[in-house]
Amino acid sequence: MRTLRIGYFSASPILALARAHGLFARHGLAIEAEPVTSSPAQFSSLHVGAYDLVLTSPDNVASYRFGTDNRLGVRVDVRIIRAVDGGLGLSLLGTHGVRCVDDLRGRVIAVDVPDSGFAFALYELLATHGLRRGTDYDIIAMGSTPRRAVALREGRCHATLLNGGLVVAAETAGLVNLGRISDVVRPYLATVLAATGQWLDTHPVIVRQFSDAWQQAVTLLLAAGADIDPLLADVFRVPATGVPTIRRVLHDPAEGLRPARPGHAVRAGGGHRGHAMNPEPVHLTVNGADHDVDCEPDTPLLYVLRNDLGLTAAKFGCGLGSCGACTVLVDGRPTHSCDTPVWSVAGKQIRTLEGLGDAARPHPLQRAFIAEQAMQCGYCIAGIIVTASTLDRGLDEAQVRAALDGNLCRCGAHNRIVRAIMACHD
Ligand code: FES
Ligand code: FES
Repeated sequence: MRTLRIGYFSASPILALARAHGLFARHGLAIEAEPVTSSPAQFSSLHVGAYDLVLTSPDNVASYRFGTDNRLGVRVDVRIIRAVDGGLGLSLLGTHGVRCVDDLRGRVIAVDVPDSGFAFALYELLATHGLRRGTDYDIIAMGSTPRRAVALREGRCHATLLNGGLVVAAETAGLVNLGRISDVVRPYLATVLAATGQWLDTHPVIVRQFSDAWQQAVTLLLAAGADIDPLLADVFRVPATGVPTIRRVLHDPAEGLRPARPGHAVRAGGGHRGHAMNPEPVHLTVNGADHDVDCEPDTPLLYVLRNDLGLTAAKFGCGLGSCGACTVLVDGRPTHSCDTPVWSVAGKQIRTLEGLGDAARPHPLQRAFIAEQAMQCGYCIAGIIVTASTLDRGLDEAQVRAALDGNLCRCGAHNRIVRAIMACHD
């Protein structure tokens, strides 16, 4: 299981639903997500590799990627890999006694930081009511949205922007919603998923798997019925009576979740390798036959072999390049097809177990494995025979065992497997 670490400002219903349904585990991924209180903390963790991904705002990405004066003092090569939501009800809430925007003249309004995307949206909202920044109200920086919600409740500011369950909680407590950001700034993108370019480039298959699980969760979330109400109540920390409001916000085209447009799945590398959004077919040569396959270029080779070409000898074991069940030959070299993006093997010679031999004309190794009864369940065997087919003759047992170090067998058939290979090479 590969663990991905994610830093977020507000708990994500998408992550929660994906976890609840085992969508990440299905791809061999475990998610460790933790809240962060500030963008410098979030981006420094991303920069040093303590986080693989962040749920953040697009202006943070711009600031840390391009700004020479960001609060880390260094540029971070961070890329947006997908839009997440439009603010989830992002609204200006006033403290007790504030009944309308005009009541904020001369008062203190809390922002995360004065130059954030949230803050600029706030200034715009206030401007539509005739309140000018620097003249008609004072600004105070108070950090993340949950912190500002506490400050509002305690009267340490007179108004601030809140979203999601915090709006529901504030309204339930009798505070007045003075205006929604989506009414004045449209289209508005509040949350994005981002990672460093280096991480995206070096983990194309994991990005793809994560993206698939994420998209499944978004689709499930938008299609779900009342069965997920307890999950929504938990994530947004609202009572059951607040869940219908949350549900409305999630589905709101302006403020809610951003489903991927058809054909626009997130791809590894954040698309910055220049792959077309509607890719050309990928040309593959497998077992001597040519194929043009319609697929995303970052699709793992294993998926294409099994699902598109019907070559099912190679198996999905770990999906992480650790077990060898998916081994095929690429230009004669044993290769884990589970974490090999298909674009990287276009034009190369790919050989699977089916290309080594079949029931009518078995490869000498296949004959030896049958003679030695070297399989138990057989799940690992295709990868093992493919790997063994590249070994020189004359190796001793220790050398054969060392050569098969990357091919795991859960059934404990190792001794028979090694005997079969040695017999074949005699
Ligand atoms: S499935 Fe385990 S290495 Fe590919
Ligand atoms: S024979 Fe079952 S995993 Fe190897």
